[in-house]
Amino acid sequence: MHEFITVKTTEEMGRIGADIFALEIKKKPDLVLGLATGSSPISLYRELVRMHKEDRLDFSRVRTVNLDEYVGLPANHPQSYRAFMNEYLFDHVNIELANTHLPNGMAEDLSEEWKRYDGLVNSLGGIDVQLLGIGPNGHIGFNEPSDQFSKHTQVVPLTQETIDANARFFSDEAEVPREAITLDVRHIMQAKKIVLVATRNKESILRKALQGPITSQIPASVLQLHQDLTVIFSEGE
Ligand code: F6R
Repeated sequence: MHEFITVKTTEEMGRIGADIFALEIKKKPDLVLGLATGSSPISLYRELVRMHKEDRLDFSRVRTVNLDEYVGLPANHPQSYRAFMNEYLFDHVNIELANTHLPNGMAEDLSEEWKRYDGLVNSLGGIDVQLLGIGPNGHIGFNEPSDQFSKHTQVVPLTQETIDANARFFSDEAEVPREAITLDVRHIMQAKKIVLVATRNKESILRKALQGPITSQIPASVLQLHQDLTVIFSEGE
């Protein structure tokens, strides 16, 4: 099933996305959520927090695995993805922090770390619902355009386009980490359900990814092959 939902505002995008997540959490309280950072998921996380506070949406048994983490940023760095997740979701719902997982970008041995993370996702039984944003170059997670779709978690150099896009969160472009650890396309595609959220600035790459040829040069194009994909597109920023 593929569903493409267009809405006017990011708030609406967040509400519709959070409704999907809430339904899945109620169906399977210990499910594994695949989570993303960045601007696009913020309204969805805000709505999940509201649902927890006002409607008692229960996260006590939920497990989460994030898509990615920068290499070289400690967890307490404000721009680390761990800090982002705590700030926008984990600190405001009744989730056990021990059940929330991100790659460790400070690991001494990065190749050990990607293997650990890859194995961890497998040992959780894979991902039930995966939340995705899309990069301006069509990346998902930090799976950048390349000659083939990635098959395991890996350490990747970020493209200049991604560094530029993410520089808005740092005081200086030079501070943006040059590498990240990312979950791979295979694990993303094995998620039982995928929800992709995107705003107006992604309209053209989204069209290419969903309507153009399937190519690892536009990693998100592989989503055309997923059996349960919902895309929520906000016409507003
Ligand atoms: C974030 C991630 C990235 C973002 C993408 C879009 O964890 O994996 O693929 O989803 O770069 O970012 P925003 O939403 O900030 O435009």
